[in-house]
Amino acid sequence: MTKYRTVHGGTLRASDIGNEVTLAGWVAKRRDHGGVIFVDLRDASGVVQVVLNPENVPAPEETLRSLRNEFCVMVTGVVRERPVENKNPELATGEVEVGVSSLDVLSTADVLPFQVDERFEADEARRLQYRYLDLRRDRMAANLRARSTAIRAMRRVLDERDFLEVETPTLVVSTPEGARDMLVPSRLRPGQFYALPQSPQLFKQLLMVAGVERYYQIARCYRDEDFRSDRQVEFTQLDLEGSFWDQDDVLETLEAIAAQVVKDVRGTDLPRPIPRMSYAEAMARYGTDKPDVRFGMEIVDLGSVFTGTEFRAFAGTLAAGGAVRAINAGNQGLSRAGFDKLVEEAQGLGAKGLVWMVGEEDGSLRSPVAKFLSDDELSGVTAAMGVEPGDAVLIVADEVEVVGSVLGDLRLQLGQPDNHDDLEFLFIVDFPVFERAPDGGLAPAHHPFTAPLSVEEMRSSPETAISRSYDMVLNGAELGSGSVRIHDPEVQAQVFEVLGISAEQAESRFGWFLEALRYGTPPHAGFAIGVDRLVSILQNEQNIREVMPFPKTQTGADPLTGAPGVVEDGQLDELGIDVKPEVRAGWSEGN
Ligand code: AMO
Ligand code: AMP
Repeated sequence: MTKYRTVHGGTLRASDIGNEVTLAGWVAKRRDHGGVIFVDLRDASGVVQVVLNPENVPAPEETLRSLRNEFCVMVTGVVRERPVENKNPELATGEVEVGVSSLDVLSTADVLPFQVDERFEADEARRLQYRYLDLRRDRMAANLRARSTAIRAMRRVLDERDFLEVETPTLVVSTPEGARDMLVPSRLRPGQFYALPQSPQLFKQLLMVAGVERYYQIARCYRDEDFRSDRQVEFTQLDLEGSFWDQDDVLETLEAIAAQVVKDVRGTDLPRPIPRMSYAEAMARYGTDKPDVRFGMEIVDLGSVFTGTEFRAFAGTLAAGGAVRAINAGNQGLSRAGFDKLVEEAQGLGAKGLVWMVGEEDGSLRSPVAKFLSDDELSGVTAAMGVEPGDAVLIVADEVEVVGSVLGDLRLQLGQPDNHDDLEFLFIVDFPVFERAPDGGLAPAHHPFTAPLSVEEMRSSPETAISRSYDMVLNGAELGSGSVRIHDPEVQAQVFEVLGISAEQAESRFGWFLEALRYGTPPHAGFAIGVDRLVSILQNEQNIREVMPFPKTQTGADPLTGAPGVVEDGQLDELGIDVKPEVRAGWSEGN
C-alpha cells in the first residue's frame, strides 16, 4: 500500500494466516512481563495484536521494552493463528496475531495527559485541550467517520439530482435572522463590520434569482447564541434550495437524503414516506413543535370531562378560555413524596399546579383532589386517559400554551427512552407565520422571507396565519427547517409591514435583496439540515460537540488553541478599535 504498510492491521482475519505483512499504527496497549511483549496495534481500521519476541526481532531489547502507549510504530511479521486460549471473539482480528520480525519506532510519545483507552474517563476540558488525542479514541474516530459518511451520502443524492454545489461568502452584511451576529471588523473600512453568516439564506435566494435552479452547500454557519447540548456558535448545515419548487418537492428531496444517510451510517432502511404532522396537531398532542414520537404518552384534552366541574382550579381556567389537559404517564412507581416533587417540577416549568391521580386495582382513581370531583368526572378521566391500575395521570389547567409546554416537558422527562437506537423522523408542516416576541410584538416564526399561505389571512389575522414552512424532526430534536419563499417583492414588503419594519427600514437593511426580487424571481423553496445534530443522533451522542472535530466549550473557548484571544494593539489600531479600559482591566485577571 505505502512504504509504511502493506495492509491495515484491523482488517486481518484467519484467511490472512501465513502472509507476511507490514503494519503501521499506534501502540494502543502493551503487556510486557519480561518475556514476550504483546502489543495491541491500532490504526484507522481497528486493532490487531502483534507479538514481539526479543529473540526474533533484530532491534535492541531495550528498544522493545521502552515501547509505551501511543508510540507510533511500524512492524513487519507473519500473520499466525492465536493459540486457542488466546483467541478473542470480541475483537474482529481476535483469531490472529502477527509474529513480529522487525520493528521501527516512527515516533515516541510523551507521558500522556490522559489514557486514549476509553475505559479511562477524561474530563471535558482536557479532552478538548488534547483533542488530537481524544480523536484517537474509538468512539470519536467512529463519530468522525460517521460524519464524513453522512456528508458523502448527502452529496451523492444531490449530485445525482443535478444540484449545483455553490459556495457563498462567509464575510457578509448583518441581517436579522433571529440570533446575534458574530462580527468581524474591517481594516480597509475602519469602524465597519462584516457579519459571519447565520445561514446562507439570502445568498441562496439570490442564486435562485441568478437562474441556479438547484443549489446545495455544506455551509458553516455562525450564531452568537448561548451554548446548549445541541447548539454551538459555529455549526454546519446542509443548505439547499430549488426554484420552480413547492413544499412537496423539498420534502421529497429531504426524504431521499435522510434515507441515504441512514442507510450509509446505520445500515438500515428508513421507512418511507416520513410521516407529516401539522404544527397545530403536534402542539395539541405533544405540547411541542418537535415531538419525540418514539413513545406515546400523548396529551389528552379533558375540557369536555370538566365542563361543569365545581373544582375551582379547573372551572376557573375553563371559564377564562384556558385548557385542562393531561398525560397518562404510566406506572411511574411514585410515592406521595415523589408526586410532591413532580408538582414542584411542574411549577418550576411554569404551571400553577399539577393534579395527579393514580389508577387503583378496583378501577377507581386515588388523588388528593378526588374529593372535589364528581364520580362522573373521575370516570370520565379514567375513560379518556385509558387508565390501568398503577397508571399515573397528570393534569394541568392553565392557558393552552402553558399546559402544552408543561405537559410536553413532563412527557419527555417521564417517557423519553434513553436509548437512541430507534429513529423516528417526522415532518412538521403548516407552521404559523408569526410568533410572539419576548417584547410582545410579532416576530417571524421561521424567518421573514417565508411565504404566508395566504396574504389576506396574514393581514387580517397575523396571530394565527399559517405559513408555508416546515421542519424536520428526529427523535424529538429539530433537525432542520425550511419554507417556500416569498418571490413577490410586494408580498415581502407586506410581511415587513406586519412585522413593524417600515418601508424605509426595510429598504436600508435589505434594499439590495428586495431589488433582486424585482428582476424576474422564480418561485422557490428550500431547507437546511443541521448536520451536527443529525450525526449526533445517528451516533447516539447526547451533545453535538462529540461529532464536531474541534468544538468549543460552553463558554465559547477552544482550550486547544486558546481562541478567542487578545490581539496586538497594532492590530486594533489598524481596525480603528479601542477596547474599553474596564474590559482591558479584565484581561489581566484572565477573563
Ligand atoms: P434554521 O435557523 O432553522 O434555518 O437552522 C436550520 C438548522 O440548523 C441547525 N442549527 C444549529 N445547529 C447547531 N448549533 C446551532 N447554534 C444551530 N442553529 C441552528 C438546526 C436547525 O434546524 N436559513 C434557514 C433554513 C431555510 O429556511 O432554508 C435556517 O438557517 O438543526
Ligand atoms: P388549590 O386549590 O390551589 O389548593 O389547589 C388544589 C390542587 O389543585 C393542588 O394539588 C394544586 O397543585 C392543583 N392545582 C391548582 N391549580 C392548578 C392548575 N392550574 N392546574 C392543575 N392543577 C392545579
